Amino acid sequence: MAELLTINDKRTCYCAELSASDIGKHVCVMGWAQKQRDLGSLIFIDLRDRSGIVQLAFDDATDRAIFDTAFGVRAEYVLCAKGVVRARGEGAVNRNLPTGEIEIAVDEFKVISSAATPPFEIVENSNVNSELRLKHRYLDLRRPDMQRNIMARSRIGKIARDYYAENGFLDIETPNLCKPTPEGARDYLVPSRVHKGMFYALPQSPQLYKQLLMVSGFDRYFQIARCFRDEDLRADRQPEFTQIDTEMSFVMADDVMRMHEGFLKRLFREYMGIDMKEDFIRMPYAEAMERFGSDKPDIRFGFELVNLSDLVANTEFKVFAGAVAAGGSVRAINVKGGAKFSRKEIDSLVEFVKSYRARGLAWLKWAETGDISSSYAKFLSEAENEAIKERMGAEKGDLILIVADKNKVVFDSLGALRCECAKRMGLLDPMDFKFLWVTEFPLLEYSEEDGRFYAMHHPFTAPMDEDLPYLDSDPGRVRAKAYDIVLNGTELGGGSIRIHDPAVQSHMFATLGMSEEEAQEKFGYLLDAFRYGVPPHGGLAFGFDRLVTLMLGLEDIRDVIAFPKVQNASELMTRCPSAPDPNALGELGIAIVATEE
Ligand code: AMO
Repeated sequence: MAELLTINDKRTCYCAELSASDIGKHVCVMGWAQKQRDLGSLIFIDLRDRSGIVQLAFDDATDRAIFDTAFGVRAEYVLCAKGVVRARGEGAVNRNLPTGEIEIAVDEFKVISSAATPPFEIVENSNVNSELRLKHRYLDLRRPDMQRNIMARSRIGKIARDYYAENGFLDIETPNLCKPTPEGARDYLVPSRVHKGMFYALPQSPQLYKQLLMVSGFDRYFQIARCFRDEDLRADRQPEFTQIDTEMSFVMADDVMRMHEGFLKRLFREYMGIDMKEDFIRMPYAEAMERFGSDKPDIRFGFELVNLSDLVANTEFKVFAGAVAAGGSVRAINVKGGAKFSRKEIDSLVEFVKSYRARGLAWLKWAETGDISSSYAKFLSEAENEAIKERMGAEKGDLILIVADKNKVVFDSLGALRCECAKRMGLLDPMDFKFLWVTEFPLLEYSEEDGRFYAMHHPFTAPMDEDLPYLDSDPGRVRAKAYDIVLNGTELGGGSIRIHDPAVQSHMFATLGMSEEEAQEKFGYLLDAFRYGVPPHGGLAFGFDRLVTLMLGLEDIRDVIAFPKVQNASELMTRCPSAPDPNALGELGIAIVATEE
């Protein structure tokens, strides 16, 4: 029953573009049948395209053959309808629909494609399970909310392209088949047919190419770049994701931050109608950890960390005193209004911090009634208890939560706990956007497990000039010219000023435990390039998917990616990864080693 489009079937507008001002016009629309309602002598079809819905009307005045065709239409049939826009009858106006005042009285009509019954209804905010949605992603993407997300992503990308182009950034593509990089996440490897036994890696980011473009003199580079990282997935991570990637020459950290802050302000003004006049807060890493227990603090609410170590260093209570004696600390947050948490809820907070390796959570609840209950107060002297209350600024209605442990555990657990409490108390408004820059990150991070230092950002990040003397004597103390842009507790982007002196770069590789030969083998081309005149340079990359997710007030990064992967990095629709054709493997000189699974 499907018919073909002919040369005369020219669409005149999108469905939801029509309004009362079009009454009397003859139009042609095309799209999918949302639903068909058969009222005997009347048939209505809601026709949907990416703009929204318009109502097609068929009645006594409609040609009989057309009426009969309309009768046979089912959900998701693809239709072409021509007719005159007219006002809906009294009482038939739908105020919930932008096109709710009008309908199209159809005088020409084609079913272009019929449709099997879809596995789920194509409607907004459906609560269909995500596996089924992803298996039929092409249908899931038809749903109006997913259409909006993907279209928003496109518009946000356009604003980025405009902004950076207007500021002199050149859009330059960098390779996807690259040399494997040993630092950072695991690489995705691509075997070479021509060079059997050799592999390319998919880029984790265009980092070194963009630096080399600065050596080449392009001065300002920009790319919406696809990146690949074989790492464990979470709600804000995908193995294949997109960066808004940039690099600038002859700049200092402040120039780079201003340029990108300008982009975010323009984006929020143009896209969200939010005018952010103030400069974004800049906070050194050490302060972020001390106050929020996190290098990506959510500053929409308080509950800041308070150090109690000096107050309890000599207490009889071993849990507190022991943590301080062992070089750790005792810190707390005051959850204002948290006294309304029940005992059961507090117990679940105790469980919550255990997932951050805290051994326990000490608490004190000061009810509005004045009653105080506590897990630790009985082990402390009255003076100690009073001192804690005073330092915490405790009042009726408050809940004091204390962790005593190694510093890392204390920061991780309290940092997460303050967010968890805010979430449970409904304090997190996704449409309240609080940006901040976190600066002065440590250059290096020590791994107890491997007994060596790793670059915290990447090995090309420059140390702060004043800390350079400590690179050998006390590497852990050296701060980097690195900055992250943080939004509501999410790391939205990160960047740094790069090392541009070959001697400092070699020194850095040595600090990371790389021999000269190894550095030459892995990064010889960069060290070579640096011998031929290199401008000071720096840049930043935004996580594009994360940016769109947060701007739309969503939680799952998959909702802004057309064809995302699931937790175990597979794609449910095409069912990849999959076993390769044995011939292809032969050509590549690759044999699969059988595993137990
Ligand atoms: P970085 O590794 O910090 O820096 O990445 C920049 C931003 O990319 C986003 N991001 C991700 N988004 C989704 N899924 C992932 N798996 C994922 N990993 C990272 C984050 C992050 O802030 N070359 C440097 C940038 C530079 O120094 O200029 C880089 O890649 O939002």
